[in-house]
Amino acid sequence: MTASTHAPIQTKLIDGKERYYEPAPQGIDVEAFRQVVTSRRSVRKFTAKPIPKEVVDDCLDLAMLAPCSSGLQPWEFYVVRSSGKKAKLVKACMSQWAAKSAAELIVCVARTDRVNEFSKKMMRDWPMPEVPPLVKRYYQMIPYNYMPGPLNSFARVKKAAISVGGIFTPLPRGPFTEDEVKLWAAKSAALACENLVLAFRAHGYDTCMMEGYDEARVSKLLNLPDGAFPIMVVAAGERAEDGVFWPQVRFERELFVHEV
Ligand SMILES: Cc1cc2nc3c(=O)[nH]c(=O)nc-3n(C[C@H](O)[C@H](O)[C@H](O)COP(=O)(O)O)c2cc1C
Repeated sequence: MTASTHAPIQTKLIDGKERYYEPAPQGIDVEAFRQVVTSRRSVRKFTAKPIPKEVVDDCLDLAMLAPCSSGLQPWEFYVVRSSGKKAKLVKACMSQWAAKSAAELIVCVARTDRVNEFSKKMMRDWPMPEVPPLVKRYYQMIPYNYMPGPLNSFARVKKAAISVGGIFTPLPRGPFTEDEVKLWAAKSAALACENLVLAFRAHGYDTCMMEGYDEARVSKLLNLPDGAFPIMVVAAGERAEDGVFWPQVRFERELFVHEV
């Protein structure tokens, strides 16, 4: 197993205190970024060209740099390589065009069952010489916050307490119930999926995110434990000439952007 990674520690005297210092890089080519974003399309037909392993690995590494709630990385990626499993996965994806022709099929799984383990790991792998006491306390509390209890019993108690306390002061209203905790994990995992597809595009390959699959069959195929659920299957490969079926449509901006 590889070790946890973090950026090198640089410090600087700021306002009379030695602080961690990570300056914002400037001069990034926004047009190159725009090209990656605007040229990404959902591709439903790929050529037979394989994607080099180092490209897949780089895309996965970039995916896992996505922001994640409390830094807990509630995601997993299964690169389905065995031909038997791949055939079953294609079938579980209802034999969609994108799945059938993809060079790679990657199942992104969200996990709610590693909160406790990863909170402890965060404390062990903390990137600075000392864990600030507030941070320590935060990670000690997280597992209790995300524990719905049998039939959401703990969640119900927490919700009742918060709805009273919340009258007087702003308080987080979740995630407490099992569904809320699943949504919590899915949010971060979906961000990693977006990084993944943009990374493939930057490498010259294309993707199709798919939620059109039989979740029970995919979970069984990957032998997922309780607390782990697939949120997307990402098909990837080289775009076929007729791989994009129609021009991209986005509705009027005013329907979505509000200045309040
Ligand atoms: C969560 C999610 C699930 C999707 N599921 C499927 C799918 O099962 N099959 C498919 O062909 N496309 C799927 N798509 C692709 C969308 O149809 C596509 O993103 C949308 O039509 C916009 O087109 P564009 O991606 O080319 O901009 C999915 C996209 C997302 C974000």
